[in-house]
Amino acid sequence: VPAIDVDHARALTPGCEHILHLNHAGSSLAPQPVLDAVIGHLRLEAEVGGYEAAAQEATRTDGVYEAVARLLGASKDEIALTDSSTRGWQAAVLSLPLGPGDRVITMRAEYAANAITFLQLQRRTGCELVLVEDDEHGQLDVVAMAREIAHPRTRIVSVVHVPTQGGLVNPVADVGALCRAAGVTFVVDACQAVGQLPVDVGAIGCDVLAGAGRKFLRGPRGTGFLYVRGSLLEHLEPLAVDLHSAEWTTTDTYELRDDARRFELFEHSPALRLGLGAAIEHALGWGIDAIAARNAILAEGLRDRLRAIPGVSVHDQGEYRCAITTFRVDGLPAAAVADELRRRGVNVSVSVASWARYDLPHRGLDALVRASVHYITTDEELDRMAEDVAHVASAR
Ligand SMILES: Cc1ncc(COP(=O)(O)O)c(C=O)c1O
Repeated sequence: VPAIDVDHARALTPGCEHILHLNHAGSSLAPQPVLDAVIGHLRLEAEVGGYEAAAQEATRTDGVYEAVARLLGASKDEIALTDSSTRGWQAAVLSLPLGPGDRVITMRAEYAANAITFLQLQRRTGCELVLVEDDEHGQLDVVAMAREIAHPRTRIVSVVHVPTQGGLVNPVADVGALCRAAGVTFVVDACQAVGQLPVDVGAIGCDVLAGAGRKFLRGPRGTGFLYVRGSLLEHLEPLAVDLHSAEWTTTDTYELRDDARRFELFEHSPALRLGLGAAIEHALGWGIDAIAARNAILAEGLRDRLRAIPGVSVHDQGEYRCAITTFRVDGLPAAAVADELRRRGVNVSVSVASWARYDLPHRGLDALVRASVHYITTDEELDRMAEDVAHVASAR
């Protein structure tokens, strides 16, 4: 794996000069090509009109589907563009057939928005929500998952590739192989994985996968995408459709589009989509394998530094860990630690129990400080972060 030219990557990132940003899992710092794409198109809209600008740039905006498809190893027809990860995830999940007694399998790392949607589906359809336990590594237990997948009433399996609340990387491909063999629909939330880890829908074996642009892909806020396997697509009727997802063919009939864009609605921001496309090209330019390799070293370097500080504990789980690091300082609320770090010019975030109810309370945790590195992070920044955390911890 070739090394990343970090100086060059930072030179292309205006935000690096102002802030020690360790919140790439929240929303990363956009690189210059993303800024240029978004601002350039807004300018064009102002000059020629929004619809006219879209028509002028139609080939480039269409190329964004192709870029997402390349990122995920999918075909362009299997991609819908959305304004968030949840929007895509929900559009697909809410279209899956479910009835009373059908089983939906989830795991401890489940994201709050997904869990809430499943609770809503449980109320609406009478389906049963089943929670798979973690194994000794703190990742989903594949053996327990295999038992649930084999159950004749299991319809949907939902796995979060990388959770919001830790460095865990769930064994998605193992689950995918089991789902493929059983003919069960496999839904992957790859929101925190895309841009920092290789995410290939063929290798994972998923039917549905959603991601966001603003996190490790470094795209603009308000962007996301959905993958739906081509062979599943034609059987799914989206819950919400409009004149873009479908055509009003006679006064009494409509016909859904035959590609994944049936999950989109008409209105969108071409500027943001072009920004997403630029972000994906930027990431692919560095190479996802190179990004993943550098991030693994940086995150482990941060964990080592944090573990060495008296009163600080690190809480990341899983056999393989990624760019997200979570920790707490004894005797201090996570929010107070994050506030103090922010005052010192360091961006981190806080993962709270209500965002990860199957997980954090289960581990006896109410909240964790989340520091997420990315390939533009330097060792000097990690040293500074460690100094700042040590200061906060010693001032308890
Ligand atoms: C694991 C995971 N899934 C889904 C989401 C939701 O993404 P969005 O806000 O783009 O819908 C997040 C956001 O933090 C997340 O961490």
